[in-house]
Amino acid sequence: MLRSVLLAAAGSAGCRSLVERTPLTRPLVERFVAGDAVDQALRVTAALAADGRFVTLDHLGEDVTDVATAELTVRAYVELLRRLADHGLAGHAEASVKLSAVGQRLPGGDRIALDNARRICAAAASAGTTVTLDMEDHTTTDATLGALRALREDFPWTGAVLQAYLRRTEQDCRELAGPGSRVRLCKGAYAEPASVAYPEKSEVDRSYVRCLRILMEGAGYPMVATHDPRMIAVAAELGRNRADFEFQMLYGVREPEQRRLARTHRMRVYVPYGDQWYGYFMRRLAERPANLAFFLRSLLPG
Ligand code: FDA
Repeated sequence: MLRSVLLAAAGSAGCRSLVERTPLTRPLVERFVAGDAVDQALRVTAALAADGRFVTLDHLGEDVTDVATAELTVRAYVELLRRLADHGLAGHAEASVKLSAVGQRLPGGDRIALDNARRICAAAASAGTTVTLDMEDHTTTDATLGALRALREDFPWTGAVLQAYLRRTEQDCRELAGPGSRVRLCKGAYAEPASVAYPEKSEVDRSYVRCLRILMEGAGYPMVATHDPRMIAVAAELGRNRADFEFQMLYGVREPEQRRLARTHRMRVYVPYGDQWYGYFMRRLAERPANLAFFLRSLLPG
């Protein structure tokens, strides 16, 4: 219930301006977001790399409604990738891209987003790193997987996220478990109808384990994106060579566990940066009531 309210608020312009104007939101946002500027993102990346963790960087933004903003996003990624290479960080960090940030929702958006994603992939290739496509709500899944197929023709290392809460995902895992395929498996963070997604958390968890098995038994490179100790234990028990998969967690979440896992496995941190943090922040609040309680307390006077 609370989760649905917060996820609905994530798409509301009124709530957005209220939350963004509240100065006390800032400390909590800073827990989850590396900073507004690329310099801050690079500093966080360097610190994580020095600590033995890998990084995937997300230039925050989604659902852009004009071509100019999509273009700015592409340029931001191109600059980011160039600077990762300049700082010697391209071996430690890649980019995560939301296709709706590069034009997917515009008229003719599939073509625009694909062309823009291609430019980002070309910049990643020049820098010597990779790109993973984030997955947004279920209305975009087919288009995003279509873009993935097209991108992989020129950039075979392009990865994508699959969301275990969707009923279709086991089949998508089977189709994407082939050689060279990089799949980031997460539970899923959007408000979805029961017609397409499992409504119960226990069903989502069972789906996650089934999907994980398919990916771990396949020939691709599974990226196990979860903070859930049970899912982490299942992945570790599936017995894959440690070099052939990795764990991933979000910046600001379960920091001690990230450090612990990095000692024995490849561990990658998803690091968002930029000033368009609202949607990302609200999804983090929706995931964890403790985050919301902390946020609400910060709004109280005195
Ligand atoms: P869940 O939220 O069910 O939590 C399970 C358990 O994990 C908790 O009971 C607790 O034990 C532990 N835990 C979770 N959060 C904790 C915290 N803050 N502190 C301490 N313990 C905690 N989603 C999406 O729809 N599209 C996408 O592209 C992505 N991309 C993505 C990348 C990466 C790298 C990650 C890690 C996640 C995503 N997600 C995502 C988000 C994902 O779908 C999901 O919403 C969150 O990861 C939360 O799900 P968990 O698997 O962590 O389990």
